[in-house]
Amino acid sequence: MTAFRIERDGDVAVVVFDLYGESVNKISKSVIADFDRVFDSLERDASVKGVVVISGKPDGFIAGADIDEFLTFTTAERASGASADGQARFARVETFRAPVVAAIHGACMGGGLELALSCRHRIASDHPKTLLALPETQLGLIPGLGGTQRLPRQVGLQMALDMILTGKSIRAKKALHSGLVEEMVHPAILRQTAVQRARELGEGRVTVPPRTRGIVAKLLEGNPLGRAIVFRQARTMTAAKTRGNYPALPAAITAIAAGYASPEAGFAVEAKLFGEMAMTPVSRQLISLFFATTALKKDSGVAAVAPDPTQVPRVAVLGTGFMGAGITAITVQAGVPVRFKDVTHPQVGKGIAAVRDVLKERLKRRQVTRQQYDDQMSLMSGTIEYSGFANVPLVVEAVFEDLTVKHKVLREVEPMLHADAIFATNTSTIPIADVARASARPSRVIGMHFFSPVHKMPLLEVIVTPQTAADAVTAVVAFGRKLGKTVIVVNDSPGFYVNRILAPYMNEAGRMLDEGVPVEAIDQAMLAWGFPVGPITLLDEVGLDIAGKSGAIFGAAFGERLRPSESMGRVIASGRLGRKNKKGFYRYDERGKRKGVDQTVYQFVPGGAVRKPIPVAEIQERLSLAMLNEAMRCLDERVIRQPRDGDIGAIFGIGFPPFRGGPFRCVDSIGAAELVKRLEALNARYPGRYEPSALLVQMAKNGQTVYAR
Ligand code: NAI
Repeated sequence: MTAFRIERDGDVAVVVFDLYGESVNKISKSVIADFDRVFDSLERDASVKGVVVISGKPDGFIAGADIDEFLTFTTAERASGASADGQARFARVETFRAPVVAAIHGACMGGGLELALSCRHRIASDHPKTLLALPETQLGLIPGLGGTQRLPRQVGLQMALDMILTGKSIRAKKALHSGLVEEMVHPAILRQTAVQRARELGEGRVTVPPRTRGIVAKLLEGNPLGRAIVFRQARTMTAAKTRGNYPALPAAITAIAAGYASPEAGFAVEAKLFGEMAMTPVSRQLISLFFATTALKKDSGVAAVAPDPTQVPRVAVLGTGFMGAGITAITVQAGVPVRFKDVTHPQVGKGIAAVRDVLKERLKRRQVTRQQYDDQMSLMSGTIEYSGFANVPLVVEAVFEDLTVKHKVLREVEPMLHADAIFATNTSTIPIADVARASARPSRVIGMHFFSPVHKMPLLEVIVTPQTAADAVTAVVAFGRKLGKTVIVVNDSPGFYVNRILAPYMNEAGRMLDEGVPVEAIDQAMLAWGFPVGPITLLDEVGLDIAGKSGAIFGAAFGERLRPSESMGRVIASGRLGRKNKKGFYRYDERGKRKGVDQTVYQFVPGGAVRKPIPVAEIQERLSLAMLNEAMRCLDERVIRQPRDGDIGAIFGIGFPPFRGGPFRCVDSIGAAELVKRLEALNARYPGRYEPSALLVQMAKNGQTVYAR
């Protein structure tokens, strides 16, 4: 056996799960078989009066199922069979002749939580690392080891639905209050308490404390009529949120509902649907994405042997405006002190207030304690001079988007810094090489493109020029990760990667306005395709002024292909800025809440108020293919180092639908030859805008895919 060892503590057997050669425990077919053998031997040993299941890893209980194994299923029947088999083994734990107690410290995810739910009693350590979740739907699957059946029984229908449909993690304290676990103790006494509890339960001495659920929940969930309401609400909300793009969510609801109708049938439905979901393209894409993000976390950012990343124990942020404040907030949150500089005291004061607002939000949500909040605030010091800059290894520049201003601050700050210090610019559109021209040490200049709002957007695009030194790259990548960001490294080029693939997509939306297509038709079509917001809404959110500037830059860099639409130019000229001046393509109320389309905007748009809808599929085809083709160009031009980075950048940077796997996975599922054909058809209608990228044409000729070239 490679997964378990049995340690005796008197008449209690402690089953220690310690998967050989792995840093975390994972559940696989062979682990389940081993587990069964453990229970065979415990069954035979009459001296065993109680059992404890505990992890041998220092900081994790069970991380979940071995995801590699999901990809080995060849048919839905096989996957269902694996699920049913696992269910049977866990049922054995539930009905074992002696009580089984789960002692949970660290992550208890997926199959790990399903195992815990099969036990008679659960004790969690009161440690921040102890988190419980059923995240299967995030991989396009449903829990397949009894989770959809036992979780509702344990915590009630509403909380079970919430946990399974969102995959969110529950901390020990909440697990205790909701009845997910029966007890919470300090990690130091976890094992001892579990052994004692197993013994007492074996002797019939303790009764598990009854769970108390609110009266409303009881009334709603205690009868079929009430439950029908809860299920209906869950189905409606899920359909509205996912627009049918994530089949695992309705499947999970079906499995849960089946369990209420008949417990036995519930398990069978769960196994069947698990099998079906394991075969969906959606699940394959989400699993690839999971592997891609895991691999990216280990990527140093440079191709050759990577220099160890220099630590960044403190930073300076230049510009205390919107972006500077966001960057400062997440930096102090990561425990790194910041020198926060602007030109005047009032501007610095404004920046500090903005940082406070971001940090306060987490205090209000109780994600940090008052003490932690105070500590974070004290890590930031405002300044209007360059004092204290001699010992900062990294300066992040977020001043106005103006090359002259950027050059001025670069020339000012460089003599104040240590020769090895890195100057990272947060420019959104200026080529990094242009910024570096003013530098005496261009090898220390790099781009750190954060997205707005900085504390919410998960992506950081790091931009390197041919001159950027490898150790500057690894230091900035490691630092970005420390800030909690998903980091991709791209080569310097107009618009870098993320905004570049967004440009033709947004432009094409503008051209549709030129042709008379209604605003809401465009937005609705792309929501249905899977984007979190439609392109015209996005324009309003980003700000029409900013979108206009970047549109002009793309037009200049790429010519006719990316020439901005007439509509955009005219609406911007009318003074509309979008959400920030509560006047854009949409209407906003006093509190800034977005209302319907502002019909008066059509006075600036060709065709005026008479709008001509076109088929949804046509909108989706034109917009999505514009983006896919541009992504192919970026790959061909080596703007991105590999397709993986392009897929992740699009998903985390602009909300490209995760279930489609990213632009390159999407290209592969369409197929190069088919895509070329469709692009050529569009190019015939809109000459110059859809010419298939050279790489795509070549792939079509050779029958290749992006990921297998
Ligand atoms: P902002 O106008 O809110 O802030 C700029 C700040 O720089 C102001 O506080 C200004 O006083 C300060 N500043 C100007 N000259 C300075 C100097 N010589 N020394 C120190 N501070 C100086 O602008 P925002 O939106 O924060 O943008 C900053 C940078 O971030 C720009 O390069 C922009 O392109 C980029 N960016 C903006 C995004 C956005 O959504 N707003 C997204 C990603 C990047």
